[in-house]
Amino acid sequence: MITAKTRNVVVVGAQWGDEGKGKLVDWLTESAQGVVRFQGGHNAGHTLVINGVRTALHLVPSGIMRSGVKCYIGNGVVLSAAKLFEEIEALEKAGVELRSRLRVSEACPLILPFHAALDVAREAARKKGGQAIIGTTGRGIGPAYEDKIARRALRVQDLKYPERFAGKLHELLDLHNHVLVTYLGSAAFDFGPTLAPYMAAGKVLFEPVFEEAMRHAKLLKPMMADVSRELNEAHFKGANLLFEGAQGTLLDVDHGTYPYVTSSNCVAGNAAAGAGVGPGLLHYILGITKAYCTRVGGGPFPTELQWEVPGTPGYHMSTVGFETGVTTGRSRRCGWFDGALLKRSAQVNGLSGLCITKLDVLDGLKELKLCTGYQLDGQLTEILPMGADDIERCTAVYETMAGWSESTVGVTQFDKLPTNARLYLQRIEQVTGVPIHMVSTGPDREQTIVLRHPYLAD
Ligand code: IMP
Repeated sequence: MITAKTRNVVVVGAQWGDEGKGKLVDWLTESAQGVVRFQGGHNAGHTLVINGVRTALHLVPSGIMRSGVKCYIGNGVVLSAAKLFEEIEALEKAGVELRSRLRVSEACPLILPFHAALDVAREAARKKGGQAIIGTTGRGIGPAYEDKIARRALRVQDLKYPERFAGKLHELLDLHNHVLVTYLGSAAFDFGPTLAPYMAAGKVLFEPVFEEAMRHAKLLKPMMADVSRELNEAHFKGANLLFEGAQGTLLDVDHGTYPYVTSSNCVAGNAAAGAGVGPGLLHYILGITKAYCTRVGGGPFPTELQWEVPGTPGYHMSTVGFETGVTTGRSRRCGWFDGALLKRSAQVNGLSGLCITKLDVLDGLKELKLCTGYQLDGQLTEILPMGADDIERCTAVYETMAGWSESTVGVTQFDKLPTNARLYLQRIEQVTGVPIHMVSTGPDREQTIVLRHPYLAD
């Protein structure tokens, strides 16, 4: 274990999510006593491989796999209690004890079945109307954040007061059922088996939602907490904290490829607001990025390759990298590394260092392309523009570099990487302006190169 003066680290995805944050959070947790989720919900999907065993987490912080570490779900997360208990039970079956060390903020807005119903019905309506779909995970994330911002959300703390909960639930159902039926034509829509128990004639019913929520209330009560206060106290008693970002910077509702984004701020600054600590407690920001690029869902992707055609580099990335979403099972789109996108990411997060993941996926490619900027309306730009409309019009400008034939799987020292792999990484540092502090060469904890440990950086 690393011992240093008290330090807190934020881990963020520097691309469109799925960069491999889960492995790194788990790895860094060796040096932390508390791990905090601060945004998103169960749209996230982290796969951890520990001693060869695969575990998928969506809501519970990835630090949970290390016994003794406290895990916190901060106020910035939208919480589906149903999903939380599904995950807790699965982890308990696998022998992970977690109820005593999981703390859930009373200020988290709840995700309830009508949020998922709105999410899928809206996407279906967009499709039917010939509009481009966002490609959401269908988990109700957007509608839950809308209720939060509109100041009408049911929050975890409301679960303690059944009457108050019932009153607010009636109000929410009046509004959302009106939208579902009248505006989205939900009566004619098949919501599938997950939502069927809560619905009739396109409307979400009060009883099943209320009864389930009250069942969850009992189970959740011992975990409900003033997370902000607990984190501040833990920090001042000497605990190292780790803030675990979900999704990725280009899915951030403000800084991402709007409107093809998620509904929360995924950037590092939101670790403070979404957990209830001051920004001065965020000491080091680690940006996680794949050695290439992927994205799920709709929206622009300037370095996208054909990834369904055998024999192409995109197909190589898709198949060797097992690029299928953990949450939805959808294939991820694949493309070359985008240095101009990373530059945007470095700025909006204030990245201290990069961790490059899945370098080994590029083993065997003859040549690699690295995007250093774009042509936009006849001008060269070296940073990703704001918003989807401008990004759609960008043509990537590439440098070509030689690949390597040797395997980098499991390499643990930078000097042991093939020369061309080192040159590729060094060029990424130059283009993005951010030092590489870590490289991941496989899914296991041990398959990691550490150039500078985030908990020891000054
Ligand atoms: P939502 O977060 O379900 O509303 O989906 C909005 C967009 O974010 C869609 O393109 C999703 O595919 C994408 N998205 C949401 N969560 C993740 C994630 O954890 N990894 C990658 N993409 C995500």
